Amino acid sequence: MCRNFLSDPLPDGLLLELLDQARRAPSAGNTQAVEFCVVTEPERYWQITLTPERRAEFPWPGLLVAPALVVVLTEPERYVKRYSEPDKASTGLGDGLEAWPVPYWWVDAGMAVHHLLVAATAAGLGSCFFGVFEHEAAVIEGLDIPEDRRIVGTVALGYPDEDRPSSSSSRPRRPLDEIIHYGSPP
Ligand SMILES: Cc1cc2nc3c(=O)[nH]c(=O)nc-3n(C[C@H](O)[C@H](O)[C@H](O)COP(=O)(O)O)c2cc1C
Repeated sequence: MCRNFLSDPLPDGLLLELLDQARRAPSAGNTQAVEFCVVTEPERYWQITLTPERRAEFPWPGLLVAPALVVVLTEPERYVKRYSEPDKASTGLGDGLEAWPVPYWWVDAGMAVHHLLVAATAAGLGSCFFGVFEHEAAVIEGLDIPEDRRIVGTVALGYPDEDRPSSSSSRPRRPLDEIIHYGSPP
């Protein structure tokens, strides 16, 4: 993740190319419920989520200059509809959102976000995924996003400035043998 951007704009058309790649991520039942709200004037977004007082103390000023933000959306009800179709009805997942042991709308959105991050890296950009936390309703209203969409998070995109890792980034990677479980001792 990059949290320190240059303000240089993205070349024309690049953002659409990246989103075209992101939408090719896999989705449960090929539901394709992930959508994107493109914010090419990021100040509109920051005005909603960062009050002037918080902005003065915000530890990542280099994030605020990223030339583009993509708010990643999902539409949970689309899964219920999809899984009510004949080829999926036997799963019972068409009964309602509460029938889903794993809410695949979040899983699929994560897959799409990661496609976007990888596509951005391949294009020489930096990117950062971050949460909207308590601002979901305000962002939906302020950016004219349909009310039945949920916000998964936001991706900042732009050319990277010198790296400024966060405290989370500096945590060591857990050893491989600690994170792999075998059904029986290897
Ligand atoms: C679901 C998720 C939520 C995240 N939320 C934030 C966030 O709100 N703010 C932030 O600066 N980074 C956020 N990150 C980035 C992580 O901190 C980062 O991926 C991790 O520290 C590892 O660093 P690296 O991706 O640079 O290797 C998030 C990452 C994920 C996958």
